[in-house]
Amino acid sequence: MGCCHYYEFTDAGDRVFAVDAASIKFGPGVLVELVDDVRALGMTRVAIITESALRSIEPVANAIDALRRSGLAIDIYDEVKVEPTDRSFLNATEFAQQGQFDGYVSIGGGSVIDTCKAANLYSSYPADFLDYVNPPIGAGQAVPGPLKPHIACPTTCGTGSESTGIAVFDLLSMQVKTGIASRALRPTRALIDPLCAYSLPPPVVAASGFDVLSHALESYTARPYTARSRPDVPEQRPMSQGANPFSDIGCRRALELAGGYLVRAVADAADHEAREQMMLAATLAGIAFGNSGVHVPHGMSYSVAGLVRDFYPDGYPQHEPMCPHGMSVIVNAPSAFRFTAPACPQRHLEGARLLGADDRGAGDDDAGEILANRLIEMMRATGMPNGVAGIGYAESDIPALASGAFAQPRLIGNAPSPVSEIDLQSIYRLALRYW
Ligand SMILES: [Fe+2]
Repeated sequence: MGCCHYYEFTDAGDRVFAVDAASIKFGPGVLVELVDDVRALGMTRVAIITESALRSIEPVANAIDALRRSGLAIDIYDEVKVEPTDRSFLNATEFAQQGQFDGYVSIGGGSVIDTCKAANLYSSYPADFLDYVNPPIGAGQAVPGPLKPHIACPTTCGTGSESTGIAVFDLLSMQVKTGIASRALRPTRALIDPLCAYSLPPPVVAASGFDVLSHALESYTARPYTARSRPDVPEQRPMSQGANPFSDIGCRRALELAGGYLVRAVADAADHEAREQMMLAATLAGIAFGNSGVHVPHGMSYSVAGLVRDFYPDGYPQHEPMCPHGMSVIVNAPSAFRFTAPACPQRHLEGARLLGADDRGAGDDDAGEILANRLIEMMRATGMPNGVAGIGYAESDIPALASGAFAQPRLIGNAPSPVSEIDLQSIYRLALRYW
């Protein structure tokens, strides 16, 4: 294996990595067990957070029905916004405050799970909205204590939000995506049922699948945890602690699965094996990046999604312009990895190989190109936009895009080499078009 010296101890660097993972149950039909899990966690007044469009999907409808018949007090909030905003987080918080719930069940994609994390947080520990939001946009205050139990039931093969302590949203006043990051936000348990993935529209499988792929690739190529300064007190060790030997395991397997199954899962909705394996890839990548953090492609995605003007992708609600999260990530990825490859070429090459690229005879100098080309090949095979221009951006948008990305130090600082705002401008420029 390459990069055997990736984790080198230094005097000032950290020597400890932490492993936090949600308790997970995975398998077709596992949602049938939801009522048992709700009872096991002692919930009696339960908030179900979901999205109205999902309620007709059979495994979701059955799970909600079983909760209704359980005799537990339940109330449903199904107005979650795809790509949530501070306003939609606050709407869900109001619902949570009024219901006086002692537990939460989220059923949906990352938008739903993130909204549930926020509603649980702000109803448990009310504060000004920006108090818990990541700096520099918010104050980054620590969450004062544990939240109410939360069972997350992801219905897409994507975000990995069920395994992380991160909630992402659009801050409307600044037109920028940002997030809240705290271990306290990590759901108590996750029930991951691949049956939910069978009915997803192909564009949703494509966008969420590339989110998975990039979680794994970014975590694998992130700055090593040993390169971060040792914290003064253990509690200050960040969740985005950098690449580490634990996260590497999940990343490698998730990359293999994405390389083998992503294109198949998009091409044929009846290919249940491919969709199940992508759900497993999402889970593994989620656990991995929840313990290491992502970097440049995700940091750049925040402004690609936040500044979107008139882009209406197939398979998503058409009432307002939006760029799905995974799509806003992957349009940056080939250019971003071309930039980061010289910092740890063997990791970039291994990532490309795990995704199915032929790297025979390749040397360190070829790593960025081989990885970028494999990503572009997969993007073309799944109908992704041709770079950032494919979402509607032009050269004149680059300064605004770069300044939005540079305002995400939690992500940009997790890259394997330093990245300046000028670097981000040139990465965006080279991400405008790929073919
Ligand atoms: Fe993501």
